[in-house]
Amino acid sequence: MTPLDEVRSAWASLAPTLNAADESTLVELRSRFVGKKGEIPGLMRHLGSLPPEEKPAYGSAVQALRQEVEGTLDRLQVELRSRALAQRLESERLDLSLDGDGADAGTLHPLLALRDEILDLFTGMGFDVADAPEIDTEWFNFSALNVPDDHPARDMQDTFFLSREPGQEAVVLRTHTSNYQIHALRDRKPPFRLLHCGQVYRCDADATHAPMFCQVEGLVLDRGITFANLKATLFTMVRALYGPQAVLRFRPSFFPFTEPSAEMDVDCRSVGLDRDGWMEIGGCGMVHPKVLENGGLDASEFQGFAFGFGLDRMAMLRHGIKEIALLTNGDMRFLRQFRGLA
Ligand code: PHE
Repeated sequence: MTPLDEVRSAWASLAPTLNAADESTLVELRSRFVGKKGEIPGLMRHLGSLPPEEKPAYGSAVQALRQEVEGTLDRLQVELRSRALAQRLESERLDLSLDGDGADAGTLHPLLALRDEILDLFTGMGFDVADAPEIDTEWFNFSALNVPDDHPARDMQDTFFLSREPGQEAVVLRTHTSNYQIHALRDRKPPFRLLHCGQVYRCDADATHAPMFCQVEGLVLDRGITFANLKATLFTMVRALYGPQAVLRFRPSFFPFTEPSAEMDVDCRSVGLDRDGWMEIGGCGMVHPKVLENGGLDASEFQGFAFGFGLDRMAMLRHGIKEIALLTNGDMRFLRQFRGLA
């Protein structure tokens, strides 16, 4: 038997077992037959010792065997995966048309429950709640907020651009709820206290970052507003949500639209989480005079503060959730734990 015949018959002898092969067997077979150091590439080593007239036929025989092996393994892998998916869909079947029996009656999603609580809290402190677009121009999302043209946050890596034609105003999925600041400044006359809550989008994903998440934006404008007002408001919020024992800190930071700026972190243990460290929940600061001017206000007359917090992060802190993605991937086993949130 030639080496080619040997490999061929080794492959043929496996045929009856292939339909029952699992994923790891398929990986092994792929590496054994067609991997870099596999048996079929090994056959090409004999090519040099063949008489020239036999080379083309030999080469195409090896190639044909390779195609057969690869084609079969590819097909088996696709079949295996679709069988696994079908099984999973069957075992996780959820009939949405069934009448509720009370036990499975609808309940608020943890993000919505927390949002409602925050809206209640702030309306209790005299804030009005308003809306702003999720699709906005680059001007509202960046330029009017004093974010320089060459700022890295504008880059494709962070921002989802919907259109970016030369000579036209670019349109983006907003990267933060701070676009609301500009809409509010243009649409209303201070003094005011405003709150806005909505989705934002960034090209980013890991345990604590998601490409779509929810922010709560606050904007207070009046005469004589100071950083102390900002701190008092945020202390009130955190203690109302997490209890009077909650420990928070303000870290000096930078945002082009606030000066001075800070980031606010909550101590994980102080809110009952079983881990050390701080969780950043958002940024804040005193509204930058340029932003006031872009909103058509006289910066010597009005001062204000603004904050933008991640609702998902706040929900993670509240419920001890380690993966941000769990909040939005619709897994009923996860969501059922929050039954009864009013
Ligand atoms: N928009 C900022 C962010 O998303 C947060 C922020 C809002 C900072 C308001 C200061 C004032 O990171």
